Amino acid sequence: MLDKESLRFLQQALEKLDAGFSSLPASPVQSPQSDRIAEVLASTAERLQDNYPYFHPMYAGQMLKPPHPVARSAYALAQWINPNNHALDGGRASSAMEKEAVAEIARMFGWTTHLGHLTSGGTMANLEALWIAGQLAPGKTIIASEQAHYTHGRISAVLQLKFDTVSCDAGARMDIEALQKRVAKGDVGTVVATLGTTATGSVDPLAEILELREKHGFRVHCDAAYGGYFVLAGNLASGTRRAFDSIPRVDSLVIDPHKHGLQPYGCGCVVFLDPAVGHFYKHDSPYTYFSSKDLHLGEISLECSRPGATAVALWATQKLLPLVPGGEFAHGLEQCREAALELHRRVAGDNRFVAVFPPELDIVVFAPRAGSLSESSALTRKLFDAAARHNLHLAVAELPVEFFASAIGDITRDRPRVSSLRSVLMKPEHREWVGTIWKVLDAATTEVFAL
Ligand SMILES: Cc1ncc(COP(=O)(O)O)c(C=O)c1O
Repeated sequence: MLDKESLRFLQQALEKLDAGFSSLPASPVQSPQSDRIAEVLASTAERLQDNYPYFHPMYAGQMLKPPHPVARSAYALAQWINPNNHALDGGRASSAMEKEAVAEIARMFGWTTHLGHLTSGGTMANLEALWIAGQLAPGKTIIASEQAHYTHGRISAVLQLKFDTVSCDAGARMDIEALQKRVAKGDVGTVVATLGTTATGSVDPLAEILELREKHGFRVHCDAAYGGYFVLAGNLASGTRRAFDSIPRVDSLVIDPHKHGLQPYGCGCVVFLDPAVGHFYKHDSPYTYFSSKDLHLGEISLECSRPGATAVALWATQKLLPLVPGGEFAHGLEQCREAALELHRRVAGDNRFVAVFPPELDIVVFAPRAGSLSESSALTRKLFDAAARHNLHLAVAELPVEFFASAIGDITRDRPRVSSLRSVLMKPEHREWVGTIWKVLDAATTEVFAL
């Protein structure tokens, strides 16, 4: 089930890396307690068996995706060096690789000038963006939609910034009229537009948000942690495409290579359009910035030590799969969206389910039809368990009933939210597997309805 072939390539690359240090005086390689390593690793493997099979297409639940073998191998290769991208002294090659990789991400969004770096994930990346937003508009409020990731409210509290939400439309996108009313109060410093919400993959109307900026002068931060790479997909609906085409005009953006970018965890990315915001990061480090006058990444990031291996893995992945429309990487995203459209089509056409709006990216949400929303929510839990018994792993999300709109018909609305099944079809293989996924879902549903 698991790829082992890449271990051969890793071995070859390790020989090559080793050769680069041949001028050093010999120092015997020490492997303390090597007799016990195999034993401990075997126990480790056994412990790791207690996981859902995130690497397999039948795992179609949360945003979990295996890294590409090249990312995994490059990350592992870098571990023999263990560079630290805080300062050039600690990670010379990997810092250069990070700058190149981030520049390629910025170019993907049409930015030729930028300031950016990798972070430990989307939370840290958004924290840095909101920190800058707060510095530029002290005392003003950060606005996000009710479906924005919870991190924005939390981060604002950490940064002691005022935070407020605006409602969503029936497609789980920021309601532009609600935003218009909110910004008219005159206290808004920054609007967070989510391009790809966590629960449903909905895309906020960025073009319209930017139009409002013209009049009200707030800053726009784009949280594209999950959805950002879809800018490369050639099969988005026109409204979604319009939002993605507007990204070059935002002030800052976040994208997570550890979501759709085929990277191991620990890889987020924040990018600012205006490199001048770098002055907010300015600080002295009397111990580390000594080896070069070139930019040390620690000078433009809040975290100090950061794994150079993350940059190495991302750089290698982008070498193999360049971030260009029409390329293999872009095609993978298109397949994910096709898989989601197909699953949604089947669910929406089956009277045993109520479906929300068609997916904008690759997340499908639905609930079993029942007499009331409480019964439907209880069935969701049962279906989640029944599917898992058949090796199909889905996720559950609590969603406002409004997202189900007309599909809900005469179901009694006895609660404001519906426990819904949620499937993130984020592996390109899902396109091929959607028929099998449907068959298993069908069998599990028959089972649950018969109880
Ligand atoms: C839109 C969005 N923003 C931010 C985050 C937080 O990212 P992380 O989990 O990498 O900290 C997520 C995570 O799912 C997300 O979907």
